[in-house]
Amino acid sequence: MRARALSILERVETGEAFAENLLRRDDSPFVRELVYGVLRRQLTLDAVHDAYGKRGAETLDAPVRAAVRLGVYQLLFLDGIPRHAAVSEAVGALKLHSHKAYANGVLRNIVRNCNIMAPDLDRGGASPTKRFERPGRMVCFFTRPVFPDPERGRAAYLATYHSHPEFLVQRWVDRVGEEQAVAWMEAGNGVPSLYLRPRAGRAEAPDLVQRLMKEGLTAGVVERDHGPPAVQVVGKTRNLVTGRSFRDGLFSVQDIRQMDAAEVLSPQPNEVIWDACAAPGGKAAHIAELLAGQGRVVATDRFATRLERVRETVDRLGLEGIEVAEHDVLSEEPPPGKPSQGFDAILLDAPCSNTAVLGARPEARWRLKPGTFQEMATTQTRMIEAVRKHLAPGGRLVFSSCSREPEESEQHALTPTRSPLVWFAKSPT
Ligand SMILES: C[S@@+](CC[C@H](N)C(=O)[O-])C[C@H]1O[C@@H](n2cnc3c(N)ncnc32)[C@H](O)[C@@H]1O
Repeated sequence: MRARALSILERVETGEAFAENLLRRDDSPFVRELVYGVLRRQLTLDAVHDAYGKRGAETLDAPVRAAVRLGVYQLLFLDGIPRHAAVSEAVGALKLHSHKAYANGVLRNIVRNCNIMAPDLDRGGASPTKRFERPGRMVCFFTRPVFPDPERGRAAYLATYHSHPEFLVQRWVDRVGEEQAVAWMEAGNGVPSLYLRPRAGRAEAPDLVQRLMKEGLTAGVVERDHGPPAVQVVGKTRNLVTGRSFRDGLFSVQDIRQMDAAEVLSPQPNEVIWDACAAPGGKAAHIAELLAGQGRVVATDRFATRLERVRETVDRLGLEGIEVAEHDVLSEEPPPGKPSQGFDAILLDAPCSNTAVLGARPEARWRLKPGTFQEMATTQTRMIEAVRKHLAPGGRLVFSSCSREPEESEQHALTPTRSPLVWFAKSPT
């Protein structure tokens, strides 16, 4: 299992893909925990390494770096894993003898030099540079400084402690203050709750809960402001997408806030609606469900490979009136299936920096640079202008993003518009 986690981490690091696209449906929850946990806590894990390693983590060969991160992660963030197992299994996942020797040496050194105890045994007084805590779970004292001195650089300390890029931390602190910035970082380090949207017309939340319980899952109904209730699944989720209810197309897995997007768009009978950035298809499917065969959805995306997921979803949910096709919003080509007067409504669920969903997509934070938000915003503005040309007179345009950054969200809505633009924050605040 550690070997599988290691291989995914190495591939993520090369930029090949996001972890969510490399993990398979049959990967165990433990592999997911290891992969997502290491990606979330990477900066903290590297700081621990750097305090005890012979050289900086950035100079290590990628497999060694991933194995050391895996070992430190298990030590600091997973309860109930014996220290020797955390070391030996991380090291055992490596292939080369020289890699094993380095990882083994440094991990053993770290184990010898961190004192992990229950939080109530903390007598205080330790330097913040040597102290790490998981509130209510454990506190760890290192023999050497691991974190930057907060007196000398508060943002650097917070960034290393909460494992987010320093420029982003400084930006958030300047904008919303330290307490809120830390809350956002905690959200970015948390495991997002798992929600299901019952397939409209096929299932309702209470019945779906009953069926899922019979399949061995623990689930409950969650009320929503904008639409019908959703279902939350807690605890083990292994059978979720192999179970009968999933195969029968009774639900989609979707973040609860993202369920609002199609409802804000408010599809009406006989409308033709364009989802211009549709893959992997969660919102396009929802729009089609709300139209219930009375109207048409054109679901397009720039990447043909990503459209396979949309087609699978359409088949599984038995949706009608939905056309899936490749199309680049920024091309001169009109989208396929455009009515002569234009679309009645358009959803532009644009690519963005993902700063509001770092819990679900943890590695996105490591791709951010100070200029990223403005670059993204510029592309999004071009996309808004491009799709707007295909809107019918009086039509509705909903723009959504998963970013907390004003450039990528409300500032778009403040830009003078030729036709109404609804800005919709599908992100947690
Ligand atoms: C946030 S995701 C969309 C998620 C989707 N709406 C859903 O609910 O499942 C953004 C999508 O935009 C697509 N995309 C990026 N640039 C594009 C472009 N120029 N034209 C069309 N699609 C694009 C990406 O391939 C990606 O699938």
